[in-house]
Amino acid sequence: MKRITSLILAVLMLLSLTACTDSSRGGATYSYDEEAPALHEAYDQWFKIGCAINSWNLDDLDSPEYKTLAKHFNAFVFENESKQDAIQPSEGNFRWDAMDKMVAFCEENGATLRGHTLLWHSQCPDWFFTDNGQDASAELVIERLRNHVTTVVTRYKGKVDSWDVVNEVIGDGGGLRDSNWLRLVGDYDGDGDKYDFIEQAFLAAREADPDARLMINDYSIEASESKAVSMYLAVKKMLEDGIPIDGIGFQSHIGINTNIDDMRRCFEILGKLREIKPDLIFEVTELDMGVYNWGDNNETEYTKEIEEQQSAKYRELFEFYIEQAELGYLDSVVFWGLSDNHSWLNKSEQKNYPMLFGRDWVLKDCYWEVLEVAEEHKK
Ligand code: XIL
Repeated sequence: MKRITSLILAVLMLLSLTACTDSSRGGATYSYDEEAPALHEAYDQWFKIGCAINSWNLDDLDSPEYKTLAKHFNAFVFENESKQDAIQPSEGNFRWDAMDKMVAFCEENGATLRGHTLLWHSQCPDWFFTDNGQDASAELVIERLRNHVTTVVTRYKGKVDSWDVVNEVIGDGGGLRDSNWLRLVGDYDGDGDKYDFIEQAFLAAREADPDARLMINDYSIEASESKAVSMYLAVKKMLEDGIPIDGIGFQSHIGINTNIDDMRRCFEILGKLREIKPDLIFEVTELDMGVYNWGDNNETEYTKEIEEQQSAKYRELFEFYIEQAELGYLDSVVFWGLSDNHSWLNKSEQKNYPMLFGRDWVLKDCYWEVLEVAEEHKK
């Protein structure tokens, strides 16, 4: 009898413990639950909350992914389908289906749209750089680049709010990244710098849509002071030369150990560009918070301890974002993926847990934490 009583007691304790887990913090369990507070509504007074999606996420209005994205986000970007290889896989062969669908969805839902990206060294087809099997001339590369930018931006004039005009052009060791763009275009105008391919992309984009926000997007400029300085120097020179750069996109593929004071320092460095362009704006463009260090391929269980560490870091991060929004720098925070299951950080040998929603769409502790931060700072 005694054994049965203690067994019942143990089961009851276990049940009450489960009931106390954080996924029940706010009375909803899944990201698509009607009672789950919408993230973008919670942050309305500071910035938009967006996410990267794929066109097929828009196909089934009853699917968890559709309900989740339509509910929580008011800004969208394609994870892959607006890159150069998707839009113009071979010269003159433009594919518009995915972007057209995205534009319609954003218009219907009153959401803003980010275009990612008009120039990158990756997911860019080789034909941009070759001519009869040889390296193409600088003139030809610029002509193709300008044609791509003009055609795409003209088609979506007034529909895409922010363009990542160029992506990842800053090198990790200072200066510009070594790429086909840099190598083949070089110092085309002979003014002593090699920003020419970037400048041409921005100039063509501005001509095609005078009102779109034109961004330069990169990784680690929110984490590495030296990379932030390289970005600062490049953008400073281009702004002084009259290149129409409206803002800086901080990709923000960060980790649970990311230091938010370092991030503040990087934002301060780039904020100095306001001395040249007073209305320069920042966007967080590809936020995720992986639980592994780069290069660590071992798989870890998502333990309670990691979950708490992640929630605490998300709290610190969103407090920092609110601070930056109140200083007038930041007006958009976009997640790179929808749920832990929909993240590019997952590898076949290693599951990752970077997002606010779990693999099964459960509302993770960090989701509640991020909501709580908004509640605490509401004015
Ligand atoms: C990633 C996508 O998430 C993957 O699906 C794809 O295989 C590779 O590209 N920085 C960027 C994004 O600017 O375009 C990248 O997206 C992630 C890193």
